[in-house]
Amino acid sequence: MWSWMILQSLLAAAALVAGAADVAEKSPTSSAKVTSLKISSTIINTPVSAFTAPGSFPTSMFTKYYNDPKQTASQVQPVIKDPVETNVVYPLSLTSPDTIPTNDTVDPHPLPPTASSSQLFQAAFDQIIAISTNPIFGNNSCARCQAGLEVAKFLAMASPESGPELAVQLCFHFNFNSACGTQFSRLALGSVITQVIANANVGGYDGQMLCQNFLGLCPLPPASPLNLTSWFAKPKPDPLPAPKTPSGKRLKVLHLSDIHIDPRYDTGAEANCTSGSPCCRKPSFNSLSPNATISPAPRYGAFLCDTPISLVTAAMEAIPVLTGTEETGFAFTVYTGDLVSHDPDNQLSRSYVEYTETLLYDLLRQQLGSGPTYAVLGNHDSYNQAQDAPHNLSGGLGTQFSWNYDHLASLWQHEEWLPESAVDLAKAHYAAFMVRRQDGLRIISLNTDLWYKYVVLRSVANNGFLTYRAGPTTSTTSTSTHRTTPGMLRFLTDELQDAEDAGDRVWIIGHVLSGWDGTNPLVNPTNLFYQIVDRFSPHVIANIFFGHTHEDQLSIFYANNATNISAENALVASWMGPSITPGSRLNSGFRMYEIDSSVRSSYSFIFTFKFKSDLLFIYPPQTFEIEVGPTFALEYSTRETYGPAVPGWGPNDPLNGTFWHLVTEAMENDSSIVSTFNTLQGKTSVLTKPCTGDCVAAKICYIRSGSAAIAFQNCIPGFGSVQGG
Ligand SMILES: *[C@@H]1O[C@H](CO)[C@@H](O)[C@H](O)[C@H]1NC(C)=O
Ligand SMILES: *[C@@H]1O[C@H](CO)[C@@H](O)[C@H](O)[C@H]1NC(C)=O
Ligand SMILES: *[C@@H]1O[C@H](CO)[C@@H](O)[C@H](O)[C@H]1NC(C)=O
Ligand SMILES: *[C@@H]1O[C@H](CO)[C@@H](O)[C@H](O)[C@H]1NC(C)=O
Ligand SMILES: *[C@@H]1O[C@H](CO)[C@@H](O)[C@H](O)[C@H]1NC(C)=O
Ligand SMILES: *[C@@H]1O[C@H](CO)[C@@H](O)[C@H](O)[C@H]1NC(C)=O
Ligand SMILES: *[C@@H]1O[C@H](CO)[C@@H](O)[C@H](O)[C@H]1NC(C)=O
Ligand SMILES: *[C@@H]1O[C@H](CO)[C@@H](O)[C@H](O)[C@H]1NC(C)=O
Ligand SMILES: *[C@@H]1O[C@H](CO)[C@@H](O)[C@H](O)[C@H]1NC(C)=O
Ligand SMILES: *[C@@H]1O[C@H](CO)[C@@H](O)[C@H](O)[C@H]1NC(C)=O
Repeated sequence: MWSWMILQSLLAAAALVAGAADVAEKSPTSSAKVTSLKISSTIINTPVSAFTAPGSFPTSMFTKYYNDPKQTASQVQPVIKDPVETNVVYPLSLTSPDTIPTNDTVDPHPLPPTASSSQLFQAAFDQIIAISTNPIFGNNSCARCQAGLEVAKFLAMASPESGPELAVQLCFHFNFNSACGTQFSRLALGSVITQVIANANVGGYDGQMLCQNFLGLCPLPPASPLNLTSWFAKPKPDPLPAPKTPSGKRLKVLHLSDIHIDPRYDTGAEANCTSGSPCCRKPSFNSLSPNATISPAPRYGAFLCDTPISLVTAAMEAIPVLTGTEETGFAFTVYTGDLVSHDPDNQLSRSYVEYTETLLYDLLRQQLGSGPTYAVLGNHDSYNQAQDAPHNLSGGLGTQFSWNYDHLASLWQHEEWLPESAVDLAKAHYAAFMVRRQDGLRIISLNTDLWYKYVVLRSVANNGFLTYRAGPTTSTTSTSTHRTTPGMLRFLTDELQDAEDAGDRVWIIGHVLSGWDGTNPLVNPTNLFYQIVDRFSPHVIANIFFGHTHEDQLSIFYANNATNISAENALVASWMGPSITPGSRLNSGFRMYEIDSSVRSSYSFIFTFKFKSDLLFIYPPQTFEIEVGPTFALEYSTRETYGPAVPGWGPNDPLNGTFWHLVTEAMENDSSIVSTFNTLQGKTSVLTKPCTGDCVAAKICYIRSGSAAIAFQNCIPGFGSVQGG
């Protein structure tokens, strides 16, 4: 502190001196100078008060000259010989006004030595600590965080092997948690974090997002302006093509999501654990009773655990019977992602992910009949979990997850769910594809993990827009017009244009939802997604499906970015599929849709049903020799439950965006409908808390929010999930 102040006073004094010299030089005839001269001559008391030098150069002052010392046109150039440095005579070129050199390449210009990895690490760590305590940042924690990231970035680039260690040491220093090594070592998230920091624009938007998302130190930036001028190939048709006429032919479609099978589930282990997700593992314990299990894991699952194999197989046995598809199977199944259990990174591996993918897709193939399953990649279905890398990451990093896209696409082909063309698309597009069914419906699957805010590698470029700009390794859409800037949402837009041109209808499927309370996705990509949905709805996009939250939810999309939320402006609904896993504090469930279909028909829902298995039997703990497994039963039918709230909605009118908007209008009048929605959201779990007070308006608002930007703009936060303890 003292030395800092001393340095400051020195600097101040130096500045004053420099300022004074400046004045004197710039004003040689000022009265101040004359006055001071007079004063000095009085003080010295010399006989004369002035001396005028002769005009001729005093040639005797030097012995030798480069030019004629008697001429007056130019300055005299004496020849100077260095008396100490022997034989050195300074050349004319050194001082001639005609030959002023510009770059001295002779003398040394010393630089500090290259730092070793350990010196780089130590300096980075020390500098980040210095930044964290430097008072100059005041209370601007965001600037402090981004400055720290800058230091980390250069360490990550210059000494990548030090990156994970820096993450671990900073975790210890700032006391992030007690498992720093387990979480941030190179064998866990350390390598991913180092890649992100090395590639991200940490001084710009990326850095702000990283500090906002992971450390809560920056404010959430608002949606960046979108320039859609050349995004769409054609304007939205006006008038829209006439709606498809219902065929009267009914198809059954199954919607499964978030199985999260736990093959390491340990029957009898602590089910009510405080030791970290998932519970029901051998090391699980409750801190109230570390040595004795207080709630032994039953055979068929528990609220804080992932799905034991016995629960998945029970669901597979129940599905055909309950849905009446034992003989027929489903027309098709939609699987909206997440197969793998919620293990910490250091317990996962590629093999574990591939094992899970293989087990579950084979099981679905065997149990659900001949109809194909169209699946998407969930954020847990990867290793490291929740990571995807943009294909253009340099240094070979762009293909680091290709093993997974290849494995999935090949499995889907092996199960005979996808044709070759879609398999190729999936391999090149982060597991996303388009398939045109024989009946004319197109399924466009997306990897919406790319807009999940915890998929950190995604945040490495371009204002969070990376998700639609970073492209596939090969050009692969059916229109194939955009080799230069392809990306997930570019791919989606071009496929939708293709479908519109062909008069086909589309279902979009993804894992991470685009809206609801806005807490899962990024603002920018979902803001663009919303505009794309508007452009192609309702005439092309018939339905949108997501998973991820484990809960039974729904969000409506409106025209004009939801600036006028009304029945007339409702376009389409996105349906979040309930999870098979009971984690956390939920029952296990799945949905069936009955749709009207024939070639080029409407593909809107006529009926939707949700089934659930009540996990009430978990508490109090049961004996493990149970003779019967869980009972799955019909939980509700959308039409029966919400239809009465929309008088005049005919029995054959589809359960479309308009229907759901009218339900929300009824909810505004009658909060008991919100209560019903809330109960069903948790699959009638006994642990779902009632929705009252601000929750009522919030929930209606989430149902009306198809993008994070709209949710943040319009809704009261904090009521999105019913899983709170
Ligand atoms: C001096 O050297 C630098 C570095 O090589 C170069 O960029 C610059 O152009 C040089 N200046 C002149 C006038 O040659
Ligand atoms: C930061 O400090 C300024 C000025 O002292 C104050 O106005 C502002 O509210 C503070 N911000 C926060 C987030 O504390
Ligand atoms: C929007 O993009 C178009 C080209 O795609 C460009 O001509 C126009 O200037 C852009 N508008 C703004 C406001 O940036
Ligand atoms: C589960 O554990 C918590 C403490 O971690 C305790 O409060 C709660 O009562 C337990 N629940 C059951 C059903 O044992
Ligand atoms: C649990 O067991 C450990 C080791 O046997 C013992 O030290 C500890 O006191 C026990 N804790 C409780 C709460 O019984
Ligand atoms: C990847 O592509 C994006 C979008 O075109 C670009 O902004 C980014 O700089 C590229 N990254 C690399 C490493 O080339
Ligand atoms: C909102 O849309 C409805 C239906 O199109 C229209 O009647 C109403 O005037 C609009 N409201 C505003 C504020 O534009
Ligand atoms: C929903 O269905 C109703 C009844 O058939 C229809 O009038 C309305 O236009 C449909 N809404 C949308 C957004 O397609
Ligand atoms: C809401 O209640 C008001 C007053 O009772 C009624 O006029 C209106 O029709 C109701 N709206 C809906 C959507 O039920
Ligand atoms: C849509 O609305 C949200 C919320 O007001 C806003 O943040 C976003 O920028 C809007 N998007 C467009 C494309 O206008």
